[in-house]
Order: sequence, then structure tokens, then C-alpha cells
Amino acid sequence: MRIAFLSILTAATMFAADGPTIKQVPLKQTSPVDGKAMFSMYCAVCHGADGKGNGPAAPAMKHSPGDLTKMTINNKGKFPDERIAMSIVGSSGIAAHGNDQMPIWGDLFKSVSNDNSIIRLRISNLTDYIKSIQTKK
Ligand code: HEC
Repeated sequence: MRIAFLSILTAATMFAADGPTIKQVPLKQTSPVDGKAMFSMYCAVCHGADGKGNGPAAPAMKHSPGDLTKMTINNKGKFPDERIAMSIVGSSGIAAHGNDQMPIWGDLFKSVSNDNSIIRLRISNLTDYIKSIQTKK
């Protein structure tokens, strides 16, 4: 089986003179039904445990990961399900994709399990989890 690789900051000891560096580590398996667990495992390193964009790897990136708790507010009060799901998959043309900043999760998840229904389940539960952490103001 092929192993997927994910950009992740390893430890505080990685702080060199020129700031934190990002290291590749193997993608670990998680339950595709647990959006919160997937978020902590795959996303928190950049987006922060609370989704606000302060993960340990954030300072090493050219673009800030942004605040995932403000997707509804920034979209006139409607959570943009479709756009969020597409930006996680990595197949839409929006800024998050096709650069080296936000990993293409569709491909990463595929390399862990080639079952399309499981990949869809992961994306859908991650999207629901992000929806559940939206702030009201
Ligand atoms: C290596 C760092 C990194 C990891 C890991 C990461 N992201 Fe991101 N993400 C980013 C960056 C940086 C952006 C902003 C991209 C840009 O503006 O170019 C982004 C953007 C996004 C967006 C787009 C928000 C919008 O405005 O449409 C979503 C949704 C998102 N990430 C979800 C996730 C999820 C879910 C995971 C885990 C499965 C994840 N990200 C893991 C760095 C990361």
C-alpha cells in the first residue's frame, strides 16, 4: 500500500534561526465518520485546534490559513457547503488549490483508501465539522 504524505510541523525544536520549518510525515488513519478527530489529526497543524488559523505550522506558510470559524459570517450568513467541500477535495479553481500551501486532500485520502464512498464520507464529515464551529458574530 502506498503511504500518503502530509506537510506538518514536527516540533518546537524545529524552530531554526529563520523560523519554523515544515516536515513531511506519513498520513495516519482516522475514522471517516469522526469529523472532529479528522480535523485534529489533519487540519489543526495549520488551521489551529479551534479552526481560527493559529496552528503551529501557520507561521511557516506564505498565506495565512484564514479563520475557518467565519465562513458563514463572511458568506452573508449562509455556510458555503459546496465551496468548503470543494476546497478540501482540492479540485476547484479557488486559491486554496493548486498551490503548495493547502494540501489536496482528495488525493491524500485516496492514497489511504481508494474507496470513493469513504473519501466522500471524509469530506462530508469534515465539512459538517467546520459548519459546527461557525461563530455567530
Ligand atoms: C499545510 C497546512 C494546511 C493543512 C494541513 C490544511 N490546510 Fe486548509 N488551508 C491552508 C491554507 C494556507 C489555506 C488558504 C489557502 C490560500 O488562501 O491560498 C487553506 C484553506 C482552506 C479552506 C478554504 C477556506 C475558504 O475560504 O474557502 C478550507 C475549507 C480548508 N483549508 C480546510 C482544511 C481542512 C478540512 C483540512 C484538513 C483535512 C485542512 N484545511 C488542512 C493550509 C492548510
